[in-house]
Amino acid sequence: MRVSARRESVEVSSGSEWFHSKRLIGAYWELLDSHRRAAAVTISLTIASGLLEVAAILAVVPIIEPQEKVAAFGIHLQGSSLRYAGVIAFAVLAVAASLVRVTAERSITRVIAEFEKGCRREMTRAALDMDWSAYLKVRLGDVNTSLLLSVNQVSLGMQFFLRAMGMLGVTVVFVAVAASLSWQLSLFALFFLVLGVVTYLLGVKPTRRHTAVLTSAAESLGQEADLLFSNLKLFRSLGERTQSRGRMEKIYADYASAYTKSMYIVPTTRSMFEISGIVGIGVVLFGALITAHGAALSAASLAFLVLFLRLTPRLVSTQENLQNARTYRKWCDAWWSTLETMHESPMASGGAGSPHFDRGLRAERLDFTYPGRSESVLHQVTWELRKGEAIALVGDSGAGKTTMLDLVTGLLRPTGGRITVDGTDLNDLDVEEWQSHLGLVPQEAPLFAGTVLENVYWMDSRRDPDEARHCLEKAHAAGFVDRLPDGMDTMLGERAATLSGGQRQRLALARALYRRPWILVLDEPTSSLDAEAEQEVLAALADVKATSSMIIVAHGLNPVKLADRIYVMAGGTVVEDGTWTELVGRPDGRFARIFRQHAVEA
Ligand SMILES: Nc1ncnc2c1ncn2[C@@H]1O[C@H](COP(=O)(O)OP(=O)(O)O)[C@@H](O)[C@H]1O
Ligand SMILES: [Mg+2]
Repeated sequence: MRVSARRESVEVSSGSEWFHSKRLIGAYWELLDSHRRAAAVTISLTIASGLLEVAAILAVVPIIEPQEKVAAFGIHLQGSSLRYAGVIAFAVLAVAASLVRVTAERSITRVIAEFEKGCRREMTRAALDMDWSAYLKVRLGDVNTSLLLSVNQVSLGMQFFLRAMGMLGVTVVFVAVAASLSWQLSLFALFFLVLGVVTYLLGVKPTRRHTAVLTSAAESLGQEADLLFSNLKLFRSLGERTQSRGRMEKIYADYASAYTKSMYIVPTTRSMFEISGIVGIGVVLFGALITAHGAALSAASLAFLVLFLRLTPRLVSTQENLQNARTYRKWCDAWWSTLETMHESPMASGGAGSPHFDRGLRAERLDFTYPGRSESVLHQVTWELRKGEAIALVGDSGAGKTTMLDLVTGLLRPTGGRITVDGTDLNDLDVEEWQSHLGLVPQEAPLFAGTVLENVYWMDSRRDPDEARHCLEKAHAAGFVDRLPDGMDTMLGERAATLSGGQRQRLALARALYRRPWILVLDEPTSSLDAEAEQEVLAALADVKATSSMIIVAHGLNPVKLADRIYVMAGGTVVEDGTWTELVGRPDGRFARIFRQHAVEA
């Protein structure tokens, strides 16, 4: 979709307001974007099938009233040959109408599938290309809902819209032909159209009201389900099962009731329309019988009658589809707003330089403030990692350590100072290439549904079981992996309940090593582990250290012992640095104080 074009218009005015103020047809047409051509073809096909059907019905006229002469394409037909031609024309045209209608239906399906795919792709791209700190403010539930639920609703709305447009075209064709048959009939056609518009307008207001209720019910459904199932452990362990069930059931009931109410409108207005239409047709037939004074009805009147018998369901369906399109409009708006919010904060474009890492990585007087916050998280932070070394950043929770690592990986950009790789500013480098040289072990490493091996390969396109095995050994994970039922081919669940925390972290270390990283970045890799598991992970790290550059972040002291140099962080700045021995040897230093506390606790 029009990412760049949309961005520009966002700067001019609030784009979503502009979108919301669009009329129904305009809004859907806008939303179609690159699928407009295909949609136009689909609508034209539907109209073409209507045209063919009208032609087939008119072909019946010469069969009933054979005395009329017909001259078409230089061929003069008369009498019985005209009647036979009429039969053939009728059959051919009717079959053609049916075939074109099928083509139109298939075309709608294709347009909708493509459109839906485009919506998902756009939302995914927007999420991946967002500025990281802005993304943190987007509710995860919103992204999930948009990607799964809303996209479905938006495409349903689009389907109603396309059908409505096709039907509308067919209706216009039918009405025009009927009107050309006689002026009385055009009056009737007009009556029918007005009837359609009136019933449609009658449905608009309640539709709007019910739709608002329905979408808000769907939103709370998404949020509550997200809250419950992402924190299921907490809810279940606190004995909240009954309450949770009750709350969710109430939400489902609210949604069901809102859904029923919003869906009742369409059949109600449809039957209103249908009944008044039938009464209308009865009145006309009555009129025609009276004016015929007992004679047979003319072929034109009969053709008209057939036309309107065919038209009524289409008018009904136009009205129904339009109303449904209106109901689903709310979803389009919500979806569009989410997408637009994401487009508003694109990731800063990076440099193009190819990174080298022969000397080292430096943080030079770094400042960082989260957008929308007044106080800075990091100020004047300086440290250095020489190639082959391990450094540690140690400090209390909230000291800014994770933020520091997000700056190193290029996820966030410093608001002051810079990070340099072999002397080159990280901002001037191709960030994705830089990231491809980092290995990361977070505090609680995720495991993916798949085998142990697949978990080691992860996103890497290389598939080398020997190297994977070697990495597992280096990470001290080979032992427990061998004891699993199928060794490296054992399936791990999404949540890998089969592995302990320490095993999981060692597996994550193997995964990080498999990337052959220049630098291994570890964010509190042992914080959630018990003492024994921590020792196992640290033993692995001690081995890895021999061959890898490392940045270890921790608030406890055990992981820090590995480091060649330690930077003590407090309140967003580095307050002390030195080797373990140096820091412990400064009795008034902050580190020595932490060390003494630690000793007491231990
Ligand atoms: N996305 C965010 N938006 C605003 N403030 C944040 C965000 N993430 C972290 N912070 C703030 O930045 C400070 C440092 O956080 P963090 O880097 O996670 O610290 P640490 O990893 O040392 O515990 C904290 O005060 C935290 O509240
Ligand atoms: Mg942290």
